[in-house]
Amino acid sequence: MGKIITIANEKGGVGKTSLSVNLGAALSIRGQQVLVIDMDPQGNASYILSKNAHDEKPSMYEVLIDKNRKISSIVEETTTNGLSLAPGNLQLAGAEIQLIQTYGREFALKRSFTPDVIEAYDYVFIDTAPSLSLLTINSFVAADYILIPVFSDFLSLVGLNLLLDTINISQENLGSNVEVIGFVITKYDCRENISDETINLLKAKFGNLIYKEVIRVNVKLKEAPSKRQTIFQYDPVCIGARNYLALANEFLNRMNERNK
Ligand SMILES: Nc1ncnc2c1ncn2[C@@H]1O[C@H](COP(=O)(O)OP(=O)(O)OP(=O)(O)O)[C@@H](O)[C@H]1O
Ligand SMILES: [Mg+2]
Repeated sequence: MGKIITIANEKGGVGKTSLSVNLGAALSIRGQQVLVIDMDPQGNASYILSKNAHDEKPSMYEVLIDKNRKISSIVEETTTNGLSLAPGNLQLAGAEIQLIQTYGREFALKRSFTPDVIEAYDYVFIDTAPSLSLLTINSFVAADYILIPVFSDFLSLVGLNLLLDTINISQENLGSNVEVIGFVITKYDCRENISDETINLLKAKFGNLIYKEVIRVNVKLKEAPSKRQTIFQYDPVCIGARNYLALANEFLNRMNERNK
């Protein structure tokens, strides 16, 4: 059975989409079947992965609003073998407003996960918006695990408490068993002392939850999204691609340990 992993951090630009898309692509290179679900109205993961971003096909908006529509009905293949996409777009902002008025509003995404979706993939990654919105809460409630990308500057750490509090609320008030399974440093700059200081602070607080493999700051990772490519399509030998492959290996090892 596949595992559902929400990628979240309410701070903007910390690498949520990069992690969803490139860890997903790295895992598919490692032979895994992966689905990326775009729960961000910005639609960045969809822009990168979709072959047909500008058409009017149904997206996660319809899945959230229409109780009879299942995720499998909107899934698209991407140009990466083994990597599929459930697209999202600006309409999701409307879903947020519509959902607020409905009963069971935190469970709309969970409800749409039928067994066929969970069985078709090894891993499902949910890319979220930089906010602790109802869409993000839905993404916590629907997931087995949460993976948190962090930027290695000090101020990024300050916001983490709010994120962890919101996850606690999902666990305690909404009966969710979701568990934080790790923090990934997504923009590590080895030239800056502050990066190492922040990593040491994170390790002191979260210990083994901090992934050992870090993603270094790499201009190719910045350029790839504008070409609508994963890092493995844009430059498969760059440091960013190598970092993401190493991260995928660590991810798979950690998952195997967990499921022993
Ligand atoms: N290791 C890296 N080195 C350089 N640039 C990076 C790296 N990782 C991500 N980026 C770039 O940083 C920007 C923000 O990354 P990304 O979109 O993944 O963050 P995000 O958390 O999803 O943002 P948002 O909160 O807006 O959804 C993008 O332009 C991305 O290409
Ligand atoms: Mg994003």
